[in-house]
Amino acid sequence: MNQELINVIKIYSTGSHEELNSYILGKSKDVLIGMLNDLLTMYINDKNSSTIREFITVNIAGYKHKEGKIGYNGFKQDSFVSGKTIMCEAKPKNVDTNSKPLRKLNGGGNFTDYTFARLKKDKKEKNLNMLISGFVDGKLIYILEFPFNYNTFTKRLEEQLHHRFKGGKDMSGQYLRSANFDYKYFIDCRNLRTVYLLNREKLEQYKAEDVYQKNQIEVLNELFRVAKTGGSFFYNHKVRWEKGKMLHPIDWLKKTKWEMRQEIIWDRMIAANIRGWRFWQVEERIYWLYKPQGNDLIGEELKSKHALLSSIWRFSPEQNNLHPAPFPLALPVRAIYSVMDDKRGLIIDPYCGSGTTLAAAKILGHDYLGIEISQEYAKLAEKRARNFREEIDCANEEISRHFVMKTFKERKENGEFTGRYGKNYRKSKEQKTLELFA
Ligand SMILES: C[S@@+](CC[C@H](N)C(=O)[O-])C[C@H]1O[C@@H](n2cnc3c(N)ncnc32)[C@H](O)[C@@H]1O
Repeated sequence: MNQELINVIKIYSTGSHEELNSYILGKSKDVLIGMLNDLLTMYINDKNSSTIREFITVNIAGYKHKEGKIGYNGFKQDSFVSGKTIMCEAKPKNVDTNSKPLRKLNGGGNFTDYTFARLKKDKKEKNLNMLISGFVDGKLIYILEFPFNYNTFTKRLEEQLHHRFKGGKDMSGQYLRSANFDYKYFIDCRNLRTVYLLNREKLEQYKAEDVYQKNQIEVLNELFRVAKTGGSFFYNHKVRWEKGKMLHPIDWLKKTKWEMRQEIIWDRMIAANIRGWRFWQVEERIYWLYKPQGNDLIGEELKSKHALLSSIWRFSPEQNNLHPAPFPLALPVRAIYSVMDDKRGLIIDPYCGSGTTLAAAKILGHDYLGIEISQEYAKLAEKRARNFREEIDCANEEISRHFVMKTFKERKENGEFTGRYGKNYRKSKEQKTLELFA
């Protein structure tokens, strides 16, 4: 295969149209004609074929593609042990965003016409790797590589064979039409290698829900590990729906080590994408998570000036920010100030974006640690935390909401109105009706 064509196909599927144009720009006429011939005869006519995706997968992972149906899809010489050949079996998968219902990438693939004999042969190969690639509308999102002989993975294939062939052995002329698998059968493999990843945000967008939740649980448990006992973490997430099913953050929060101290509604008052399937969802959730001290699952009481704020936080989204989904500054100010009050500590934000939490932490006198995958946003966050003084007024506006004229105790002592706990409390008609429905 023409190396120039290999390069063009790589850029075609991983890069931008501009990159492709500039790559082709300097090429001689002969080179271009050679490439075009190959392209027209082999690839462009067959835009959605799995061959092109298999070819791309194998090449990017550093293997030489092997054409033809028999045997494995690619091979390379081991860079450490000379003469040793490593083979790969490529399983590319494309999802089409126009398909209904919309499918997602789930790290899946399948072996067609599989048999016990084939599994036995594959398992015997000492140097056989699996290459799993995910494409969305023909554009490459990731390539993952792991040894075929990973136990959980081969077990999955074996189980399906047993299901198909009840006698536990092959039957002449019969096949398991599709032996399929997805992320969960190889994601824990210690030798799993990310060969290629377009970018993490794109992956999040197309990644199957179970992988997303597993990842969130891991992140939350790691935060739990590093948090002090008695420490808190405020976790913001939306309730979502997929194919009509509600995906609630509580589903995965319950699988973490954190105690759930409170569910707070963040009323954003506005949201995009209005469709009529449900009422306009303008709220997000914030979970106050708590790392208990021994058996004390409740922790310290908030000071009255904080506790008198309600569990519905009404803040409109931040404007004038280069990040597409920032918090308003008041939100982390409220969380940090309420829990920390006059204590000082270390505030961590594992998805810090434009650095709103970091600026809030700095203004309130804490140390901070932000983690952000995008270099562009990480720089933005650093700059914002450095220039925290510019946002002090805005933070003060939130701080001024934390006040009490009199505490509950003071009211009680003075015989003033304390709601249902007071001596002279008489239930109003409204109150009685409310209680009927409580
Ligand atoms: C919703 S935004 C956070 C916005 C932030 N609260 C603010 O006010 O600007 C989520 C951020 O997480 C980042 N992100 C996504 N996956 C990540 C990962 N695995 N590690 C670190 N950051 C990640 C994204 O780049 C994005 O900036």
